[in-house]
Amino acid sequence: MTVRVPAKVNLQLGVGPIRDDGYHDLVNVFHAVSLFDEVTVETAAAPEVRVQAAPYSRVSVADVPADQDNLAARAARLVAARLGVDAHAAIRIRKAIPVAGGMAGGSADAAAALVACARLWDDRDEPVLNRADLVELGAELGSDVPFAVLGGTAVGVGRGERLTPALTRGTFHWVFATADGGLSTPAVYAECDRLRAEEGAPDAGDAGGAPAARVSEPLMTALATGDAKGLGAALTNDLEAAALALRPSLGRVLDAGRDHGAVGALVSGSGPTCAFLAEDEEDAADLAEGLDGARVAAQVLRAYGPVPGAMVV
Ligand code: C5P
Repeated sequence: MTVRVPAKVNLQLGVGPIRDDGYHDLVNVFHAVSLFDEVTVETAAAPEVRVQAAPYSRVSVADVPADQDNLAARAARLVAARLGVDAHAAIRIRKAIPVAGGMAGGSADAAAALVACARLWDDRDEPVLNRADLVELGAELGSDVPFAVLGGTAVGVGRGERLTPALTRGTFHWVFATADGGLSTPAVYAECDRLRAEEGAPDAGDAGGAPAARVSEPLMTALATGDAKGLGAALTNDLEAAALALRPSLGRVLDAGRDHGAVGALVSGSGPTCAFLAEDEEDAADLAEGLDGARVAAQVLRAYGPVPGAMVV
């Protein structure tokens, strides 16, 4: 059973106050883009995980755990437990999504494993687990897993896991600049907290953190009308300052994208991948070429969005 699953970029990542459980309250607009990992699952006598770069991809998989700690293996165990089946999964992951890149690659693999294992093991006439159940199970694995099951464009609140699909029109054309070496998501959130404490967060709420984030109306309007320029102007990421503090060279990457015609530029999620929105497909080609020539990125990748979530191929 093979499932193809997309990467995401956050069109808005609004980081609110830190909660008692250590997570931050978020307003997150997720957008699935056409960079895909492929996850193949077979029922096996013993659990197994293999990870490799997808054909033609230069993704470095050295830092991905090829054992039962892999989020996809945890997803398989969760599905088996929920279905009450005594089955093991041999999982093979072919990665094209940058690793620790702020594009939710690990979450994507977990989502793909959820869908693959449910299809393999939930074989009664009336499936026990539907898509909504898998979205819910995903939340037990990580904040970005539910969206990778769902795909498209969606607003996430809470830890980012409570999702509502967003209305969009047409296709948006993206260019991504990857970096050598990932950034740890917890480290970026911690740096965001540290910077806010340093600034004294003047309008902080009772929790002593940031005020609650709200979804951007100009962003939702640009999505609904297919307005690339409007969307580019409305892109925001509250983790960007923290990612830039930990990796100052990203400033040059963002500048290079803007110089080469991007209508929007931001760090993707917790970084270090930078995302650039182009006005149309032709501009995306020019932008990718310009960024390649600027030699500021490990790799320059093109993609479009929105695309559907994890799907059996
Ligand atoms: O949920 P997930 O394991 O994907 O999150 C990774 C890390 O990102 C968390 O351990 C936490 O440090 C940070 N995080 C957060 N607030 C969120 C989501 C993630 O602080 N809403």
